[in-house]
Amino acid sequence: MISNRVKEIPFSGIRKFFELVQKSKDIVSLGVGEPDFPTPEPLKDAGVRAIENDFTSYTSNYGLLELRERIAEKLKKKNSIDRNPETEILITTGVSEALDIAIRAILNPGDEILIPEPSYVSYKPCVWFAHGNPVPVPSKEENEFRVLTEDIKGRITKKTRAIILSSPNNPTGSVLRKKDLEEISDIVIENDLIVISDEIYEELIYDDEKHYSIGSFNGMTDRTITLNGFSKAYAFTGWRLGYAAGNSEFIESMMKIHQYTMLCAPSVSQHAALEAFRYENYVGDMVKEYDRRRRLLVKGLNEIPDISCIMPKGAFYTFPNIKNTGIKSEKFAERLLKEGGVAVVPGSTFGDCGEGYIRCSYSVSRESIDEALRRIERFMEKLG
Ligand SMILES: Cc1ncc(COP(=O)(O)O)c(C=O)c1O
Repeated sequence: MISNRVKEIPFSGIRKFFELVQKSKDIVSLGVGEPDFPTPEPLKDAGVRAIENDFTSYTSNYGLLELRERIAEKLKKKNSIDRNPETEILITTGVSEALDIAIRAILNPGDEILIPEPSYVSYKPCVWFAHGNPVPVPSKEENEFRVLTEDIKGRITKKTRAIILSSPNNPTGSVLRKKDLEEISDIVIENDLIVISDEIYEELIYDDEKHYSIGSFNGMTDRTITLNGFSKAYAFTGWRLGYAAGNSEFIESMMKIHQYTMLCAPSVSQHAALEAFRYENYVGDMVKEYDRRRRLLVKGLNEIPDISCIMPKGAFYTFPNIKNTGIKSEKFAERLLKEGGVAVVPGSTFGDCGEGYIRCSYSVSRESIDEALRRIERFMEKLG
């Protein structure tokens, strides 16, 4: 009774893996993909006040105008992107929804979307659900997992419609530099493409690295749909709130799908999110702690024989290389879980070029990182 398309699309590899984790005992998990901090108090209080004041009805399909205004101000100040809050910003149920409706709004059946890999697990399935064809573009460790323009160029066909960029990246933590984005913009303009730019990890960035929004680059204003949200920066995952910003044609078309399928994003969450714009310190403190954990984890991983790990520049993931073990990443993760008591995600979950790597998150306490490192070291010794 199920459609062939849905039957053909596999469940997320992460989900499959975490079913295994749930069945296991005494596990240290580096598999998590969400902040381990609580939602900041002022945002929680604003949510409670919204409930007490009965702000619990539907909002405008586009989302609360006041929230769109705050987002427009933020986009202008932080991202140099000018968007009209009335017509060019749509509040969504997380970046997840924004991604889905952006893809559905622009794809015709058989169209191709380029996806630099390793990539977030939802990109490919969303393209499949929209009757399109995802075209992976591998990125390599030698280039710090930043996609190369010649690799993009080589995969463009008459059917290519768009490219999905994700910087900082899940699962590699790579950050695209200004020059990378300038070169990608040139290709996009030359080939009349659209960019869907997932910037959900924008705030989680380290060292001297800087986040650039491709939507602010010359000639990109009408070719970019910028996606962002509150999940990662404000430990807001369960509140389900994100947004899309683009020209009014994109946003209106996305709104058409959103209107029929979602109606509006959660109203209590929208009221709580208003508080986020008054509360920037929280993000800074959280980033400092992630940075400490990042260094601790990368240093520890590099001290273990047969594991090497480049220093990620953003998000809260490391992507260590386990190729020296000669074991496929899925098998490695399964054995590490069963024999070593540590949960990580196999790199192959994020695309074929993730084979030979595992994703280890540092969205866990420093104590858990220390314990995980001890266990990985013991496991590797036993592996010989
Ligand atoms: C790259 C990326 N984009 C989007 C999402 C989904 O975010 P949201 O909670 O806003 O739906 C995630 C969640 O892990 C992610 O890693």
